[in-house]
Amino acid sequence: MKNTPIDKNLIDEIIEEFQIADFSKATIREVKAIASKAEKLSNVEYIKMEMGVPGLPPSEIGVKAEIEALQNNIAGVYPDINGLRELKEETSRFIKAFMNVDLSPEGCVPVTGSMQGTFASFLTCSQCDKDKDTILFIDPGFPVQKQQLVVMGQKYESFDVYNHRGDKLKAKLESYLNKGNISAIIYSNPNNPSWICLNETELQIIGHLATKYDTIVLEDLAYFAMDFRNDLSQPFTRPFQSTVAHYTDNYVLLISGSKAFSYAGQRIGVTCISNKLYKRVYPGFKKRYGGGTFGTVFIHRVLYALSSGTSHSAQYAMAAMLKAANEGEYNFLNDVKIYGDRARRLKDIFLKNGFHMVYDKDLDDPVADGFYFTIGYDDMTSGELAKELMYYGVSAISLVTTGSEQQGVRACTSFIQDHQYECLEERMKIFSENHPTH
Ligand SMILES: Cc1ncc(COP(=O)(O)O)c(C=O)c1O
Repeated sequence: MKNTPIDKNLIDEIIEEFQIADFSKATIREVKAIASKAEKLSNVEYIKMEMGVPGLPPSEIGVKAEIEALQNNIAGVYPDINGLRELKEETSRFIKAFMNVDLSPEGCVPVTGSMQGTFASFLTCSQCDKDKDTILFIDPGFPVQKQQLVVMGQKYESFDVYNHRGDKLKAKLESYLNKGNISAIIYSNPNNPSWICLNETELQIIGHLATKYDTIVLEDLAYFAMDFRNDLSQPFTRPFQSTVAHYTDNYVLLISGSKAFSYAGQRIGVTCISNKLYKRVYPGFKKRYGGGTFGTVFIHRVLYALSSGTSHSAQYAMAAMLKAANEGEYNFLNDVKIYGDRARRLKDIFLKNGFHMVYDKDLDDPVADGFYFTIGYDDMTSGELAKELMYYGVSAISLVTTGSEQQGVRACTSFIQDHQYECLEERMKIFSENHPTH
C-alpha cells in the first residue's frame, strides 16, 4: 500500500472534529471546510470539486451596464417589484430566441437568483389548492431546494430518475401524480449533479401529465443551453434549448444569471411564468389573500414579502446581457465552454484509473461534458468514496446528498486550474494502485 498524498490520520481527526458520523451525508459546506483545514495543516493543495461556484470572470457586458446604471443614481430608488421593463422585454425575447417559446414580458419576473425563484415558486404553488401540499423532485437534484422546503415547512417527495428514463418515466411519474397531492414537479435540465438532459420524449411525458393532473412544472434552467453536444448559442436558430413549455401551459421557467453568464455574485435571475398560468385563479389565493392570480400573487404577495424586488443595478446588467445575446452580438456560451473542456480532461483521468461514470447516458447518448459529472469506483459506496478521495487531496460531494440512489460522487469542474491535471493524474494513479478493482 502506497502512502496517500495526505496523511489519513490527519483527515480522520478533522472529520472527527466536525462530528460527521456518516460522511455520505456531509454537506457541500462541510466538505469544503474539511478540505480547507486539511490543506492548511498538510500544506498539500486540494483539487476542489465540491462547490458548484462559477469560476470564470463575469460577463463584461453586464458589469459595464451595471456601472452605468449606478452612475445614473438608480441605487437611490426602489426597483419596480414587477421588474425593470427592459429586462422583462429582453427575457421574453430571449425565451423566443433560444427556446422558441412565446411568453409575454408580463410573466418575466426578476428575482435575486434562481434560489429566490424556487423559494417563491414553492410558496406560491403550495398555496393554490389545499389538497396539493407536496412538491415532487425528479432527482438527482440540487440539495438546497429541499432545504428551502424544510425551512418553509412544506412536504416533498422524490425519486431517482436513473432507472426511469425514456418511456419508463410515465408510469413512475403517474404513480406520484395520481395520488392528487402534488402541487409542483421540479427538475433541472441540464441536471445538477449528473449533467443528464431530459429529452423531448421525457419532457413531453412530464408536460402531458402536468396538464392531466393539473400540476405545475418548475423547470430549473440554471445551466441554460450548456448541453454542449449541440450548438444552442445562435438566437432564433435551431436547435433550441429543450423545454417542457412546448408540452403544457402549467409551467414556470427559472433562468439564472449565475452560470451561463458567470454573474452569480450579483444574485440575479428571472422567473418566467407561462401566459396561462400567470392569469390563472386558484381557490387558495381567494381564501388567503382575498383574490389574485398566480402571477400577481407570485409578485405582489410573495416576492413583495420576501425582498420587495431585486437589486436594481443587477437588473440592468441582466437586461444588457440578454439583449446582446438576443441580437447575436454576444455568444454567452463561448465564455463557459471551458467547463466542458475541463470535464473531458478530468473524466479521462478518472476513467483511465479505474473509475466509472455513474450517470453516463441520456438513453443511448453519452452525457455531455459540462459543469458537473458523476463518478463511482468499483463497489465503493458514495460515502466511502467521498471520504477516501479526501486522503488523496480531492474533495467532492457524495451522491447521497442529491437524492440519488446510485453510488458515487459529484465532481464539479468550476475550480479546476490548469496545473492540477498532472497532479490529479499522479494522485489517481496511487488511488487505483491502492484499490485494486474486483
Ligand atoms: C440546479 C440549480 N438551480 C439553481 C441554482 C441557483 O442559482 P442562482 O445562483 O441563480 O440562485 C443552482 C446553483 O448551483 C443550481 O445548480
